[in-house]
This record gives sequence, structure tokens and C-alpha cells, in this order.
Amino acid sequence: MKCEISPLSDHTGAEVRGIDLSRPLDGEMRARLNRAFVDHSVLVIRGQTLTAAQLLAGVQLFGTVFHQHNTRFALPECPEIHYLSNQDKYDDGKRYIPGAGYHTDHSNAAMPPKATILLALKLPDTGGDTQYVNMHRAYEDLPAETRQRIANLVGIHVYQSKHSERKLTGLPPEAKGKVPEFVRHPIVRTHPETGRKSLYLNPIRIESIEGMGEAEALSLLDALLAHATQEKYQYRHKWQPGDMVMWDNRCLLHKANGDYDHSQVRYMYRVMLQGDTPV
Ligand code: SIN
Repeated sequence: MKCEISPLSDHTGAEVRGIDLSRPLDGEMRARLNRAFVDHSVLVIRGQTLTAAQLLAGVQLFGTVFHQHNTRFALPECPEIHYLSNQDKYDDGKRYIPGAGYHTDHSNAAMPPKATILLALKLPDTGGDTQYVNMHRAYEDLPAETRQRIANLVGIHVYQSKHSERKLTGLPPEAKGKVPEFVRHPIVRTHPETGRKSLYLNPIRIESIEGMGEAEALSLLDALLAHATQEKYQYRHKWQPGDMVMWDNRCLLHKANGDYDHSQVRYMYRVMLQGDTPV
């Protein structure tokens, strides 16, 4: 296989062509892809035609599978793979667009997933892009006094923050007790593979900042989020059929766009890889 890896922006994303994840890859290729993932934070691997079982086997070249806690989205034939669909509804009948609003995945876990992987199976004719922002760049551009102010702050993350604008679907009964009530993560996180610092925010899950009053914490979090989500830190992914996109939750925020005709199906497979304790 002749594999080509080309950057998609000057800070985030690389396109990978010429590999087939349903076939075994040699050690050199595996190392190259893992390096590219750490260097570019988003890998867009084009042209993948994979069953759920092949996806599950293929992604393990990048790490160990993370057990997703909301089992209501698990595929019956391959429960480690979940689906993501714009055809799902909340209990009140309203359409659920999974992933709308900037966030990082499962930061309410003590060891949140290092990566999330989506495989596009059905796409709307236009729209439904996924937007990413680079939290290394956003951190590095902060004024020195802000970096000093936030250096040792700890965020309290819960399944569903009372401050979140997006409502999540409830957890199924079997997940209760498996999901911690809250976890503590630094607001400034150091990437375990590069040593580079980034902001670690999650408006859906951060409930408070340890030792800080609510009004001050919310105003600080809002200001950091507004800074981090500026267009200059963004890579916007326009999906093509067969794209397998994998991103680094340790240094990015992402969001799905619901800006398309919802009578058209947007359906993807989703799997995540285990990360470590944020420090
Ligand atoms: C997600 O937030 O995991 C989903 C992103 C997307 O559907 O584009």
C-alpha cells in the first residue's frame, strides 16, 4: 500500500490516502499513522469500506477500545461500536442531533477517551460538517497573565452540567453506578505524548471550578470558550462517503452541525480509544 499523508490546515488535520484498514498494516505503517495522529490531532482516512467488526479491529492499531457508557447506541451485532444518527429523538419526540455544541468526549470519566473515531455511512447532500478547534493553539495565544491565572485550576466534570445549553439523552439503567458522580480535571492539560499544554474545557460537562464562586467560574469559562472557538483555531471537516475521521480529545474541542435537511439521514459508526488521567 502506498500511503500519502497531507496536512489539511496549518494547525489541525491531515488527510490519509492509500490505506485499507480492513487489511493488516506493518509495524512501520502503524508507527507512521500513530505519529501522524499525534502531530495533526485529526486524521481523515479516506475511502474506508468497513463492517463494524472490521472497524473495531482496524482502530486498535491506535490503542485500546474505550467502553462507551451510554449503551443505548450500541450496535447489537458489535456492541463496542456505537452508532450516531440524526433520526433519533428525545423522549419528548424532538430530534436529537448528537454532538451539537463544542465539547470534548466523555470528560466525566476519570480517564477520558484519547480519541474518537467516526466512520461515515450515510451523509446528507450538503452540510453536517464537524468543526474542530485546536486547544493547544488557543492556550498558547492566551495573555501571560491569563495563563498564570488558570495554571492550577481544576474543573469539576459531571455527566450533564446544569450550565450546559445542550441536553444529553438520559443514561440507561445499566449505566447507573458505572459513571462517576463527578471527576476533577485540570483546566490546563499537558498532552501525554508531546508535553504540549492545552486548554481542557467542556461546556456540556463542567459544573464548576474548584474553590471558585459560580459567577466568577462561569464568566471565566465563557471567556476561555469564546477565545478558543475563534475561527483561526478551527479545522472544519466536510464529510465524504467512506471517511473515517479520528480526533484527539486531549487537545481539541469538536461539534457537529445540524445545518442540513433532516429528512436526509446522517449515520455513522462511532468508537473511542482509552486515554489516561488528565494532568
Ligand atoms: C460527536 O460529537 O461525537 C459527533 C460529531 C459529529 O457527528 O460530527
